[in-house]
Amino acid sequence: AGLGGPRLLPTHTSTGSVLRSALPLPPPFQVPLRVPRVLAPVAPDRYELIAREAEAEILPGVRTPIWGYDGTFPGPTIELRRGRTTTVHHRNDLPVPTVVHLHGGRTPPESDGYPTDLVLPTRGWSGGHSRHDPAARIAHSSRDYVFPLDQRAALLWYHDHRMDFTGPAVYRGLAGFAVVRDDEEDALPLPRGDREIPLLITDRAFAADGSFAYPSLDPSLTRVPGVTEPYTGGVLGDVILVNGAPWPVHEVSATRHRLRLLNASNARRYELSLDPPPPDGPAFVQIGSDGGLLERPVAHGSLVLAPAERLDAVVDFGRYPVGTEVTLVNRLGTGTTGHVMRFRVARRDRDDTAIPPRLSEVERLDRAQATVTRDFAFRSGLLGDRHGWLISGRAFDAGHAVARPRLGDVEIWRFVTDLHHPIHLHLVHFQVLARGGREPGPYDGGLKDTVDLGPGEAVEVITRFDGYRGRYVFHCHNAEHEDMGMMATFDVV
Ligand code: C2O
Ligand code: CU
Repeated sequence: AGLGGPRLLPTHTSTGSVLRSALPLPPPFQVPLRVPRVLAPVAPDRYELIAREAEAEILPGVRTPIWGYDGTFPGPTIELRRGRTTTVHHRNDLPVPTVVHLHGGRTPPESDGYPTDLVLPTRGWSGGHSRHDPAARIAHSSRDYVFPLDQRAALLWYHDHRMDFTGPAVYRGLAGFAVVRDDEEDALPLPRGDREIPLLITDRAFAADGSFAYPSLDPSLTRVPGVTEPYTGGVLGDVILVNGAPWPVHEVSATRHRLRLLNASNARRYELSLDPPPPDGPAFVQIGSDGGLLERPVAHGSLVLAPAERLDAVVDFGRYPVGTEVTLVNRLGTGTTGHVMRFRVARRDRDDTAIPPRLSEVERLDRAQATVTRDFAFRSGLLGDRHGWLISGRAFDAGHAVARPRLGDVEIWRFVTDLHHPIHLHLVHFQVLARGGREPGPYDGGLKDTVDLGPGEAVEVITRFDGYRGRYVFHCHNAEHEDMGMMATFDVV
């Protein structure tokens, strides 16, 4: 028992293939889209979030056991306000330890969810915990996570982050939205209310008994069973869920809508487009990225989203005749994974929204400001005689810092890869300086906390390490790569 988990697995193919569900799948575009409920505070700026086992009806008529924050998948949405220090009291009623991470949060280290900072189960945990990491902050049954929220309006999310077990825990349902709002964004004439729709996109496969099929772990999560599925490329399912519903359908008025997209999948990348495309001009106008609003809107015909990335995009359904069925398709999928959801343009309505040509201001960091350049290689490799995912030849070693940026310093980090790896840094948002020796790509704009690296591609990012001193992680956000070692610690000093 303990932390030595699924990191070491037998060598097998590194290009994931799709798990097939073992029960009949419903036809697409039948289940209505739900928007996760907004969590009510228990006191001003204080929330309570309980992780527990529950059952959900995800496929119609099928009961699926989940692990959910407040027993739901996705968890409830936490609405946050810039500058208002907010406490989330997390209680762990699951049978295994948890770690909560606010992804995209500028969070002090003790509340950031370092992967060994466990919250042990309320009842009966006999597993180990701090074997490798004497500095781990272990809590029993609950912890207060404190978020100062000294940061711009942005779509964040929270999810489990336990060392070696993030993949299976998130797959079982431990993920939800957190939305930071501020006055700057509120002042813009963007679509809001029910015309602002958060979409948490995931893929899952279902076992014959209705449970989520995950290829390697048993419920006790304490052993490494024989792996037969091509697991090292990451777990891919054949059912696309949006806000926990399979290929849902949603009625919209023929007006502008703001889609706040999050790829919460363990390993799947998407390229989203609209079918039919609008008669005139590109389908999407991107207004924001991981770290909030862009300076100026950017039009795209399709949107590429790697795991953990967010895109804030406006779609004007007013360009379609009433009665049109508009499918959000995934150009990187085939068969059941080739479509995501459908919008039904139901009626005309008044629309006094607009997309201002100037949205916000983003401080641009310049190469000349950087004091240090660091290189990290994200590659698979051998750990002993087993297969692992490594950063510059090392697997995650809790407590060992591979970089010590000085508080306030600007640094350039260069990433090289063998395959697709979405690289995520905790604490900071960064700007992409270059991709493959050229200009940043079409989706690299604005402030990012996760960057989608392609095979053989080198990406340079620049950021200022300000906010807090202490230890944080950066890692591949393919959850299976992360669990199999592709994570490292940086210590802000
Ligand atoms: Cu989305 Cu280290 O996390
Ligand atoms: Cu990876």
